[in-house]
Amino acid sequence: MSSDEKQTVIIFDTTLRDGEQSPGASMNLTEKLEVAVALADLGVDVIEAGFPVTSHGDFEAVSEIAKTVRNSSICGLARCVKKDIQTAWDALKEGTNPRIHIFLATSPIHREYKLRKNKDELLAMAVEGIAFGRSLCPNIEFSAEDAGRTEIDFLCQVIEKAIDAGAGTVNIPDTVGYLTPFEMTERIRTVTAKVPNIHRAVVSTHCHNDLGMATANSLAAVLAGARQVECTINGIGERAGNCALEEIVMAIKTRHDVFPVKTNIVTNRLVPVSRLVSTITGLRVPRNKPIVGQNVFAHESGIHQDGVLKNPETYEIMRPEDVGLQTNDLVLGKHSGRAAIADRAKMLGYDLTSEQIDVVFADFKRLTDRKKEVYDADLLAIIEQLVHQKTAVTWAFGSYDISCGSGKSPKATLNMVYAGTRYSHTVSGGDGPVDAIFLAVREITKMDIVCKDYNVHSVTVGHDAQGEVSTLVEYKGKSFRGYGVSTDVVEASTIAFINAINKILQESSSF
Ligand code: KIV
Ligand code: ZN
Repeated sequence: MSSDEKQTVIIFDTTLRDGEQSPGASMNLTEKLEVAVALADLGVDVIEAGFPVTSHGDFEAVSEIAKTVRNSSICGLARCVKKDIQTAWDALKEGTNPRIHIFLATSPIHREYKLRKNKDELLAMAVEGIAFGRSLCPNIEFSAEDAGRTEIDFLCQVIEKAIDAGAGTVNIPDTVGYLTPFEMTERIRTVTAKVPNIHRAVVSTHCHNDLGMATANSLAAVLAGARQVECTINGIGERAGNCALEEIVMAIKTRHDVFPVKTNIVTNRLVPVSRLVSTITGLRVPRNKPIVGQNVFAHESGIHQDGVLKNPETYEIMRPEDVGLQTNDLVLGKHSGRAAIADRAKMLGYDLTSEQIDVVFADFKRLTDRKKEVYDADLLAIIEQLVHQKTAVTWAFGSYDISCGSGKSPKATLNMVYAGTRYSHTVSGGDGPVDAIFLAVREITKMDIVCKDYNVHSVTVGHDAQGEVSTLVEYKGKSFRGYGVSTDVVEASTIAFINAINKILQESSSF
């Protein structure tokens, strides 16, 4: 290993696996591919694309991503059993430098209650599973699930055996987010000192955020010698989530004096990728979320504003452009041309095709008729709507008319278009205008969907701001997310419901 490699922390992103385990965050194949391409462009070294044995959809997604994304190593998760390992390999084998990630729980509570196996049985299972994995694939990662609560001597024993059996990466996960940074440092130091063959593997960490310490614990692991960090965009993941990729990367970059290591991440792509994942999963990024939140470079107090004008470093420890936030949020207007829009989209991290620019430009022009000032955030919302429509559009929104008021039952007429034919339906009823529109969408499409989640959010400020709607609907036991944006929230809601319907139709062959 060269000294440069030693100093590089491998960024292993698990947004598409652990991240997708966040309730309501499921993504379809097109969306997973979109995220995987964005992660590779971000410079992620290893992309955990899914858990192939769990469903046909996961298998297909891992396989497609492995075939498509060539500039990152693609990884698939497997329990430490032959069927999982073989299935993971079947999904991955056409990838460049694919990796099988085998996990086995090692803590007393998991041994006793989940696996009902003693230490010797576990050691034998780990060796057998890893050796089988190695017979298929040269790149094997082994995770000792719940390593944070595993007796340290047993953990060292498992890791030594795992390396002997052929694991090139050994992961020490804090599965339940229980450790403190000090304990994590101790754990990694002990493993590094006591496992005699540790120099043959990369030590990794995977921290959950149950006590809000995932990033601190991952950094503590790096300080103790870990050279791979497992993380997700926006910190999404099981329960309270995982270590946030953007936080670990910017902490390393900003505090190089404390962490003398580097990552391969192209940091000015962090905000666009964060937005992409947030729109696709419907998991909104809180305004005060470190690195990628909307407020991170906003200064409210007069004293702070004065300081930043004199020298940004008075109150900013990072430069907005380093994380991909444009400081010149210039107002776009009626007279901005197609080229200016394409250029601004590029600055915001979207290299659109000519056809995509046509759609975005047409939507932008419509928006300038409704809204005096159009900001970057407005343009991003339009582009993200297009991202959602990557689904081959089947149903399209036409127009709507509603009469409603306090104490009155709403009456909604909706026009929608399917394969060039216009369909119209009028409903009376519902709790309000959005509910009435939802009922009309159901009537027209004859699809028995149930609305499970609905969120509306203002893209910018002001009375003419666009409303961004994200909705989760259920159809035949499966969840689908829809997205819509408009200055009119009823229209945005209709577009979001229709978007979800189109995603259902796209997947209908699997029903
Ligand atoms: O949290 C965890 O332990 C995991 C493993 C599969 C690495 O997600
Ligand atoms: Zn996890």
